[in-house]
Amino acid sequence: MDLFSEIFKKVESILTENYPDGKKALNGICTLLQSEVPDYDWVGFYFANFDTQTLLLKNFSGPPTEHTEIPFGKGICGQVAVSNTNFVVPDVTAQENYIACSIDVKSEIVVPLFIDGKNIGQIDVDSNSPNTFDTTDEKFLEAVCQSIAKTYPKASLLL
Ligand code: SME
Repeated sequence: MDLFSEIFKKVESILTENYPDGKKALNGICTLLQSEVPDYDWVGFYFANFDTQTLLLKNFSGPPTEHTEIPFGKGICGQVAVSNTNFVVPDVTAQENYIACSIDVKSEIVVPLFIDGKNIGQIDVDSNSPNTFDTTDEKFLEAVCQSIAKTYPKASLLL
Protein backbone atom coordinates (compact mmCIF):
# COMPACT_ATOMS: atom_id res chain seq x y z
CA MET A 1 0.00 0.00 0.00
CA ASP A 2 1.36 3.45 -0.80
CA LEU A 3 1.86 6.11 1.86
CA PHE A 4 -1.25 8.13 0.98
CA SER A 5 -3.47 5.01 1.10
CA GLU A 6 -2.04 4.06 4.48
CA ILE A 7 -2.52 7.55 5.88
CA PHE A 8 -6.01 7.78 4.42
CA LYS A 9 -7.00 4.65 6.38
CA LYS A 10 -5.72 6.32 9.54
CA VAL A 11 -7.73 9.46 8.69
CA GLU A 12 -10.90 7.37 8.42
CA SER A 13 -10.17 5.70 11.77
CA ILE A 14 -9.65 9.09 13.44
CA LEU A 15 -12.97 10.33 12.03
CA THR A 16 -15.03 7.36 13.18
CA GLU A 17 -13.29 6.83 16.53
CA ASN A 18 -13.84 10.44 17.60
CA TYR A 19 -17.44 10.77 16.35
CA PRO A 20 -19.31 13.00 17.27
CA ASP A 21 -16.38 15.15 18.43
CA GLY A 22 -15.46 16.58 15.04
CA LYS A 23 -13.11 19.17 16.53
CA LYS A 24 -11.01 16.46 18.14
CA ALA A 25 -11.07 14.47 14.90
CA LEU A 26 -9.78 17.44 12.87
CA ASN A 27 -7.06 18.13 15.41
CA GLY A 28 -6.03 14.49 15.09
CA ILE A 29 -5.96 14.73 11.29
CA CYS A 30 -3.74 17.84 11.44
CA THR A 31 -1.29 16.07 13.76
CA LEU A 32 -1.30 12.91 11.64
CA LEU A 33 -0.68 14.64 8.32
CA GLN A 34 1.94 17.03 9.66
CA SER A 35 3.88 14.27 11.38
CA GLU A 36 3.57 11.48 8.80
CA VAL A 37 3.47 13.04 5.33
CA PRO A 38 6.93 14.16 4.17
CA ASP A 39 7.14 17.92 3.54
CA TYR A 40 3.72 18.67 5.10
CA ASP A 41 5.21 21.18 7.57
CA TRP A 42 2.01 22.97 8.66
CA VAL A 43 -1.53 21.62 8.36
CA GLY A 44 -4.66 23.51 9.38
CA PHE A 45 -8.41 23.87 8.86
CA TYR A 46 -10.02 27.27 8.35
CA PHE A 47 -13.83 27.62 8.55
CA ALA A 48 -15.99 30.28 6.93
CA ASN A 49 -17.99 32.79 8.94
CA PHE A 50 -20.47 33.96 6.30
CA ASP A 51 -21.73 36.86 8.46
CA THR A 52 -18.30 38.48 8.74
CA GLN A 53 -17.02 37.11 5.38
CA THR A 54 -13.89 35.78 7.05
CA LEU A 55 -12.14 32.47 7.55
CA LEU A 56 -11.28 31.41 11.09
CA LEU A 57 -8.47 29.03 11.97
CA LYS A 58 -9.97 26.24 14.07
CA ASN A 59 -7.36 23.48 14.08
CA PHE A 60 -3.71 23.24 13.14
CA SER A 61 -0.47 21.36 13.66
CA GLY A 62 2.87 23.10 13.16
CA PRO A 63 4.25 26.47 14.19
CA PRO A 64 1.57 28.90 15.49
CA THR A 65 0.45 31.59 13.04
CA GLU A 66 -0.90 35.06 13.74
CA HIS A 67 -3.24 34.69 10.74
CA THR A 68 -6.15 33.15 12.61
CA GLU A 69 -8.72 35.28 10.75
CA ILE A 70 -8.52 35.87 6.99
CA PRO A 71 -11.00 37.97 4.98
CA PHE A 72 -12.65 36.26 1.99
CA GLY A 73 -10.60 37.10 -1.11
CA LYS A 74 -7.32 37.71 0.75
CA GLY A 75 -4.37 35.34 0.44
CA ILE A 76 -4.54 31.85 -1.00
CA CYS A 77 -7.09 30.76 1.63
CA GLY A 78 -9.36 33.75 1.09
CA GLN A 79 -9.30 33.20 -2.68
CA VAL A 80 -10.37 29.56 -2.24
CA ALA A 81 -13.25 30.74 -0.02
CA VAL A 82 -14.69 32.52 -3.06
CA SER A 83 -13.45 30.35 -5.98
CA ASN A 84 -14.55 27.00 -4.47
CA THR A 85 -11.62 25.30 -6.21
CA ASN A 86 -8.26 23.86 -5.17
CA PHE A 87 -5.28 26.21 -5.21
CA VAL A 88 -1.79 24.74 -5.64
CA VAL A 89 1.12 27.16 -5.17
CA PRO A 90 4.51 25.77 -6.25
CA ASP A 91 6.38 28.96 -5.24
CA VAL A 92 4.76 31.31 -2.75
CA THR A 93 7.08 34.20 -3.70
CA ALA A 94 5.45 34.27 -7.16
CA GLN A 95 2.00 35.02 -5.70
CA GLU A 96 0.88 38.63 -5.33
CA ASN A 97 -2.21 37.84 -3.27
CA TYR A 98 -0.48 35.78 -0.59
CA ILE A 99 -0.35 35.98 3.22
CA ALA A 100 3.00 34.82 4.61
CA CYS A 101 2.71 32.90 7.85
CA SER A 102 6.41 32.10 8.06
CA ILE A 103 9.49 32.94 6.02
CA ASP A 104 10.26 29.21 5.96
CA VAL A 105 7.21 28.34 3.83
CA LYS A 106 7.99 27.82 0.13
CA SER A 107 4.89 26.12 -1.30
CA GLU A 108 1.26 25.65 -0.33
CA ILE A 109 -1.97 23.83 -1.19
CA VAL A 110 -5.52 24.73 -0.17
CA VAL A 111 -8.48 22.41 -0.84
CA PRO A 112 -12.08 23.41 -0.03
CA LEU A 113 -14.28 21.36 2.30
CA PHE A 114 -17.83 20.97 0.99
CA ILE A 115 -20.69 19.94 3.23
CA ASP A 116 -24.03 19.52 1.47
CA GLY A 117 -22.43 21.09 -1.59
CA LYS A 118 -21.47 24.26 0.30
CA ASN A 119 -17.84 25.42 0.69
CA ILE A 120 -17.77 25.77 4.47
CA GLY A 121 -14.02 25.70 5.03
CA GLN A 122 -10.76 24.33 3.79
CA ILE A 123 -7.65 22.35 4.56
CA ASP A 124 -4.44 24.34 4.17
CA VAL A 125 -1.01 22.68 3.95
CA ASP A 126 2.28 24.57 3.91
CA SER A 127 5.65 23.14 2.96
CA ASN A 128 9.13 24.44 3.69
CA SER A 129 10.25 22.98 0.35
CA PRO A 130 9.32 24.44 -3.06
CA ASN A 131 7.13 22.50 -5.52
CA THR A 132 5.86 20.04 -2.92
CA PHE A 133 2.30 19.56 -4.14
CA ASP A 134 0.85 17.95 -7.26
CA THR A 135 -2.36 16.25 -8.35
CA THR A 136 -1.67 13.30 -6.02
CA ASP A 137 -1.82 15.67 -3.05
CA GLU A 138 -4.96 17.29 -4.46
CA LYS A 139 -6.69 13.92 -4.81
CA PHE A 140 -5.57 12.84 -1.35
CA LEU A 141 -6.75 16.04 0.34
CA GLU A 142 -10.03 15.98 -1.61
CA ALA A 143 -10.59 12.43 -0.34
CA VAL A 144 -9.81 13.58 3.22
CA CYS A 145 -12.34 16.42 2.91
CA GLN A 146 -14.98 14.11 1.40
CA SER A 147 -14.48 11.64 4.22
CA ILE A 148 -14.88 14.42 6.81
CA ALA A 149 -18.11 15.54 5.13
CA LYS A 150 -19.44 11.98 4.99
CA THR A 151 -18.73 11.25 8.66
CA TYR A 152 -19.77 14.71 9.92
CA PRO A 153 -22.66 15.80 7.69
CA LYS A 154 -23.47 18.64 10.11
CA ALA A 155 -20.83 21.39 9.99
CA SER A 156 -21.69 22.36 13.58
CA LEU A 157 -20.05 19.15 14.82
CA LEU A 158 -16.73 20.34 13.37
CA LEU A 159 -16.62 23.73 15.08
N1 SME B 1 -0.60 31.45 3.30
C1 SME B 1 -2.01 31.52 3.56
C2 SME B 1 -2.29 32.04 4.95
C3 SME B 1 -2.45 30.99 5.95
S1 SME B 1 -0.96 30.37 6.47
O1 SME B 1 -0.38 29.59 5.35
C4 SME B 1 -1.12 29.39 7.79
C5 SME B 1 -2.69 32.41 2.54
O2 SME B 1 -2.03 33.07 1.74
O3 SME B 1 -3.93 32.47 2.56
